[in-house]
Amino acid sequence: MLTIEQMKKSLEVDKLETPCLVLDKRIIKRKYQEIKNSIAGVKVFYAVKANPDIEVCRFLNELGSGFEVASVNELRLVLGIGASAKNVIISNILKPVEFIREAHRSGVEYFAFDSEMEVDKLSEHAPGSKVYLRIVVDNTGSEWPLSRKFGADPSMALDLLRYARSSRVIPYGITFHVGSQCMNPLNWSNALITAAGIFHLAKKNGIDLKLINLGGGIPVKHLKKTPKISEIKYQIEKNLRDAFSDHPGLELMIEPGRAMVGDAGNIITKVILKAERGAETWLYLDVGVFNGLMETIEGFTYELVSEKEMSGFVDKMEMIPYTVAGPSCDSVDTMFEGYKLPKDLTLGDRIYIINAGAYTLSYASHFNGLEPPRVYFIEK
Ligand SMILES: Cc1ncc(COP(=O)(O)O)c(C=O)c1O
Repeated sequence: MLTIEQMKKSLEVDKLETPCLVLDKRIIKRKYQEIKNSIAGVKVFYAVKANPDIEVCRFLNELGSGFEVASVNELRLVLGIGASAKNVIISNILKPVEFIREAHRSGVEYFAFDSEMEVDKLSEHAPGSKVYLRIVVDNTGSEWPLSRKFGADPSMALDLLRYARSSRVIPYGITFHVGSQCMNPLNWSNALITAAGIFHLAKKNGIDLKLINLGGGIPVKHLKKTPKISEIKYQIEKNLRDAFSDHPGLELMIEPGRAMVGDAGNIITKVILKAERGAETWLYLDVGVFNGLMETIEGFTYELVSEKEMSGFVDKMEMIPYTVAGPSCDSVDTMFEGYKLPKDLTLGDRIYIINAGAYTLSYASHFNGLEPPRVYFIEK
């Protein structure tokens, strides 16, 4: 993770206008290499939605990462920085036909699906493509579940793969998403066991699947105990060994978003108001739900560190619970309740939001005319 000391060493953080996001490229590189080297033979496709900053994509492209894109604009972004279409996959299962057409014309070969209608669209607008079926898997223990809106029930897998075979696309593999910020490594085991069952059934029916796309889900440390990549790797490799031994030459993909950029960056924000309301002390920051901290609406809690604590003048007795809110005139824009911070915080005091590199910029809107955090990079 990017420490505040490191930020201060590399940049004049006191002079940066808030809100801003400081991203350390060295950490992005380390995370990319750690994930790439963790699972033998895996190819990494960065899920651009986690942080679509052009410099982040450019840097990952230089490192050799592939990209998972969810929309035509993300596609244009990565092709625009020189990524090869051969290194781009599309795992969104609900693509407008215009997106499919443009991706196919650009040379993208891999597309996900989970319904007959998506196969029809791909068959018409991206004939000859390699299509991989997204199945629904257990998301228990994930802080941002992705299981209801997406994914075919495994019991429908064979019918859907047969449907793809009878169309003008190639049924090529299976994908799943264990849920974002997945705290339960066993979700990967269960998903792989289910996927292996589908591989066997498909083979018996003359469909030779070749790809497992492990999706996203690797978590980033916030306030709770969080599994390490090595624990997730263990579950994945064990199940690949046990359940896929009769599928030599299996193509393996992974499409991490959060884990590539989440702990590479901290947001710097400042207090713009403090007010007593009933029994609560409210603290208003210049970053909130609509300009960076959207994930807090699902109960996501970041670590906040105030500059006052850093300077060592505050002891634990001087910490009080705050209701912490953002700068817009919408009451949904309230991030935390009972969050303990120094009692004497006041106008202009700076607060660091730790490990906030993922799903902050990409969720930020211009609601109320507020600016998303500006990005600064630490290069070395
Ligand atoms: C299809 C797909 N792949 C990958 C990801 C990245 O997931 P994560 O950020 O949890 O690694 C997402 C996130 O929503 C997704 O929808």
